[in-house]
Amino acid sequence: MVSTLGVAVVGFGWMGRVHTQAYVRLPHHFPQLSVRPELVAVADEVPGRAEEAAGRYGFATAARDWQEVAADPRVRAVSIAAPNFLHREIGVAMARAGKHIWIEKPVGLTADDARAVAGAVAEAGVQGAVGFNYRNAPAVQTARAMIAAGEIGTVTHARVRLFSDYAAHPEGALTWRYERARGGSGVLGDLASHGVDLARFLLGEIDALTADTAVFVPERARPTGATAGHTRATGGELGPVENEDYVSCLLRFASGARGVLEACRVSVGEQNTYGFEIHGTKGAVFWDFRRMGELGVSRGTAYQDQPVCTVYVGPGHGEYAAFQPGSANGMGYDDLKVIEAHHFLRSIAEGTAHGATLDDAVHSATLLDAMTRSADLGTWVSPG
Ligand SMILES: NC(=O)c1ccc[n+]([C@@H]2O[C@H](COP(=O)([O-])OP(=O)(O)OC[C@H]3O[C@@H](n4cnc5c(N)ncnc54)[C@H](O)[C@@H]3O)[C@@H](O)[C@H]2O)c1
Repeated sequence: MVSTLGVAVVGFGWMGRVHTQAYVRLPHHFPQLSVRPELVAVADEVPGRAEEAAGRYGFATAARDWQEVAADPRVRAVSIAAPNFLHREIGVAMARAGKHIWIEKPVGLTADDARAVAGAVAEAGVQGAVGFNYRNAPAVQTARAMIAAGEIGTVTHARVRLFSDYAAHPEGALTWRYERARGGSGVLGDLASHGVDLARFLLGEIDALTADTAVFVPERARPTGATAGHTRATGGELGPVENEDYVSCLLRFASGARGVLEACRVSVGEQNTYGFEIHGTKGAVFWDFRRMGELGVSRGTAYQDQPVCTVYVGPGHGEYAAFQPGSANGMGYDDLKVIEAHHFLRSIAEGTAHGATLDDAVHSATLLDAMTRSADLGTWVSPG
C-alpha cells in the first residue's frame, strides 16, 4: 500500500527548485516506492519567492519564515536548500521537531556544524540524507563496483578535479558564497566537498593530506537586491572576497593509494569539469561529469599499451533503469537528484539509511577543515 509523506523545502534558489522537481518526479521513476511525497510547504526569506514556488509546483502553503515549517505537523520531511550558514540552525531545529532531513552539502560552515546536525538527527531518530549527488551517477556507481571487485588491480593513485567558471566573471556579485560567516570555506565547501565525497566513495578513507589554497578574485561588487545562484553586480560598492577560490591537495588513503584533488571556481574555460582518473596495478577508470553516461575503462593483463574503451551506461548500471530502457540515452544533473530523493524516501520508508548520510557529511567536512589547517600550517595533517 502506498502512503503519502508531507514534505517541505526551505530555501528556493537553484537547489530548492531541483529538490522540488525531484519530489514531483519520484513516483514517475520509482513507482514501487511505498511512500509518495506530497508538497506541503515551501519557505524562502525573499518576499514572494515561496509564493511563486507554491503557485508553480503546488505546495499547499508558502512562508517567509522557516520556523513555520518546523512547527507544521503536516511536514514529515524537509529539504534544506538554504545557504551554508543556515544549515546548522535549520538542520538541528528540523531534526528536533522530528522531521527527516535532506540537507544540501557541505552541511554548515565547518565540521563542527556538520557534527551538530548529525548529532541532532541521531538523537531524534530521523533520517538524514545529504546532497552528494555525483556519487549517484550510474557510471560512478559502476566505477566503484569495478574497483571493489579488483578489476583494475590494487589502486595506486587517483586524481579528482572540480573546475568551474561560475565565479570567474569579475562582475560576479559578492553573494553569501564569498563571505566566511555565511559561505564558509569557499570552493572547499562548494566543490571540494563533492570531490572528497567521490574520493571516499570510490577509494575509502583518507588518512593524511597537504593542501594549498588561493584567492584569485579578491574583491567583488555588492549586490543591490535579492540574489539567487550566480548573480552579476555591475558598478556596485566593492567588498572583499573572504574565502578560497582554489584548493589543491595531495591525499594519502588508508589503503596506501595516493591522490590529488584540485578544485577551482574561477577557471575560465571550464564548465562543470568534474571528474576523476583512478589508476590501479592492472587498469584504470576515467569519468567526466560532462559525459555523465560514459565510463572510460582500461582492464586486462597487458599492462603496457592496454586499450581504453568507453562503457556507455545502461539498465544494468546503478539506477539507470529507472530512467531509460537502453544504454547511452543521456541522463542529466536533475536525474541524480531524483535518485537522491529516492534514497531519502526509501530510507524513511525502511528506517535504514540509503545513499549519502550525515556521517558522510561529517567525514567530508572534517577533511575540508584539515585542508584549511594544512594550508595555514604548510604541512601534512591528519583529519580529525
Ligand atoms: N549538490 C549540489 O550539486 C549543489 C549545487 C548547488 C548548491 N548546493 C548547495 O545548496 C545550497 C543552496 O545553494 P543554491 O545554489 O540553491 O543557492 P541560492 O542562492 O540559489 O538559493 C538559496 C536560497 O535560500 C534562500 N534563503 C536565504 N536565507 C533564507 C532563510 N533564512 N530562510 C529561507 N530561505 C532562505 C535564498 O533567498 C535563496 O532563494 C548551498 O548549501 C549549496 O552549497 C548544492
